[in-house]
Amino acid sequence: MYLIEELKTSLAKALSKATGEEIAIDALEYPELSENGDLAFPCFSLAKKLKSAPPKIAGDLAAEVKLPKGFDRVEAKGPYLNFFLDRAELVEETAEVVRKAGEAYGDRKGDHASVMVEYISPNNNKPLHLGHVRNGLIGAALSNLYESQGKKVARALLLNDRGLAIAKAMVAYVKWGNEATPSSLGKKGDHYLGDLYVMYEQAAKKDESLEKEAHDVIRKWEAGDAETRALWKTMSDWCEAGQHETYKRFGFRFDVEYKESEIYQEGKDIVELGLKKGVFKKDETGAVFADLEAYKLPNKIVLRSDGTSLYITQDIFLAKKKFDEGGIDASVYVVGNEQNLHFQQLFKILELLGFAWADKVKHLSYGYVTLPEGRMKSREGTVVDADDLLSALEADAAMEIKQRHATLPDDELVRRAHSVALAAVKFYFLEVDISSDMVYDPKASLSFTGKTGPYLQYMHARIRSLLKKAETETKGEGEGRNLAPEEFTLAFALARFPEAVHRAASQDRPSLVAAHLYETAKAIAALYENAPVLSASKEDRKARLKLLEAAAVVLKRGAELLGFPVPEEM
Ligand code: ARG
Repeated sequence: MYLIEELKTSLAKALSKATGEEIAIDALEYPELSENGDLAFPCFSLAKKLKSAPPKIAGDLAAEVKLPKGFDRVEAKGPYLNFFLDRAELVEETAEVVRKAGEAYGDRKGDHASVMVEYISPNNNKPLHLGHVRNGLIGAALSNLYESQGKKVARALLLNDRGLAIAKAMVAYVKWGNEATPSSLGKKGDHYLGDLYVMYEQAAKKDESLEKEAHDVIRKWEAGDAETRALWKTMSDWCEAGQHETYKRFGFRFDVEYKESEIYQEGKDIVELGLKKGVFKKDETGAVFADLEAYKLPNKIVLRSDGTSLYITQDIFLAKKKFDEGGIDASVYVVGNEQNLHFQQLFKILELLGFAWADKVKHLSYGYVTLPEGRMKSREGTVVDADDLLSALEADAAMEIKQRHATLPDDELVRRAHSVALAAVKFYFLEVDISSDMVYDPKASLSFTGKTGPYLQYMHARIRSLLKKAETETKGEGEGRNLAPEEFTLAFALARFPEAVHRAASQDRPSLVAAHLYETAKAIAALYENAPVLSASKEDRKARLKLLEAAAVVLKRGAELLGFPVPEEM
C-alpha cells in the first residue's frame, strides 16, 4: 500500500475504534504552514456524526492512531489532527516503495467496474481538427487513468457516416472530382473529402440549387439506390482510412467501432416502444417527439414526419446497444460542450424509457479550443488540421533537437521529434481543466523549459543520464548523511503521486496528474540545483540517486497516463 493510503487506513481504523463506526477517510489536507504538520485531517465533518466537538475528536484520534512508516508524530491542534513526517525516513521509504512498484506505481486494483469510453467520434466528411485533438487527448488520458485504478476500459469510436455532410462532399465529387482518388492525387482520403466538402460550401453560396442536390443524394441513399450507395461507400472508406492514420500518429486506439449507417434504422423500434409507453408523442405533422417540458428541457424530435431518423434516434439506440453487448457498468461520452443540451435530452429520454442503466451514463463535456490568432473556422476551410498541426510541431521539434545533436542519424531525429511533438501537444492540452475553453499556443507548448511536456521529458532524460554516469563514476566524497530539504520536497511529491492519479481518475481531471508532474519536475530541478549528487558523500549520493531513480519512474508513469513517452536521452 502507498504511504498516504496507509495513513488513511490507520486513521480509519482509529476512527472505527473510537466510534464503533466505519468511516472512510477521503480528504487529507496539506497545510501551508509547516508548524501545522505535513498532512492534516480536519475533524469538523465528524462532529455531527459523533455528537462531539471537533477538538475533542482530534484529541481522541491522536491518542488512538497508529502511525505508518515514514511518519514521526501526530498532534491534535484545535479541530485538526496534524501529522509530521520523519523526513529522512520518508525519503528512504518512498524511494523504496516506488522501486518495488516500478511502472505500476500509483496503480490500484480496487475498482473492477467495466466502463466504455466513447471519444473523438467524428463525421466522415473531413479530416480531424484541433477540437478532435482535444477530445482524443482527454478520452485517451481518462481511459488510461480509469485503467490505472483497476477498471476495465473499452475505448469506443462512433463514426457518423451518413447524412448531409457526406452528401455534400458527394455532390462536389460528382461535379468536380474528375474521378480522382486519394492515391491518384497523393492525398489522404480524409483531406480529400474535406477539400470536396469545402468546394461544395463555396459553390453553394452562389448556387442555391446545390442544396437540393445534396438532399437528393440523402434520399437516394436512404432508398438504397445502388449507385449512390457505392459512391458513398468508396468516399466514406477514403475518409475513414485517412482518419485512422491520424489516430495512429496521435496514439489513439479503439476496441469497438460503431457506424451510424449500420445502426440508424434500429432506433426506430425504440421510438415505437416510447410511443407505447407514452414517453413520446406525435405532433400534428406526424413527427415523434419527447415531451421534456416537465424537466425544463426543450422538447426533442426523435423521428421526423417522413419517418427518417435523426442524430438522437441513433444515440438512443447506441446507448442501449453499448449496455446490451458491451458487458459494461458505465458509459462515458467525451463530446464538446456545444452538445450539452443534446446529452441532457438524451439522458432524460433514456431515464423516461426506464432503462436500468440510465443513471450509468455520463457526458464528459469539454471546452472550446482556439489558437492565439483567434477562433478556428470550420466551413471556409481555414480549420486547424490535426495532421498539419502535428507535422508542424515535429518540424519545429526536429530543428530544436538538431541544434543540440548535430550528428543524430535521420531516423533517430524523426523518432525523437515525434516524441517531443506528442509531449508538447498532449501536456499543453491536458494541463487545462477539461471544462474550460482554452487557447492552444503551439510555440509555447514546445518550449524545453517551463510547464511543458518537453520539459518533463528533459527532466526524465537528465535523470537517466545521471544514473548512467553514476554506474561508472563510483566515487563519493566523505562519509555521513546530510539530508537536503530538497530531497524531502521531492520525496513528498513522489509519495503523493498515487493520490493525484486516484483523484484525477475519480474526478475525471487529467489536469491533476499534469499539475503533479510539473510539481515533481520542479522538485527535481531544485534538488539538482541545491544538492550535489555524484560528488556528495557516499550515503548522500546513494540516497539521492535512489530518490532520483524513483522520480524518473513517476515522470515516466505520469507521462504514460497522459499519453506521451519520455525518452532515455534528449
Ligand atoms: N459526430 C458527432 C460530431 O462530430 C459527435 C458524436 C458524439 N457521440 C455521440 N454518441 N453522439 O458532432
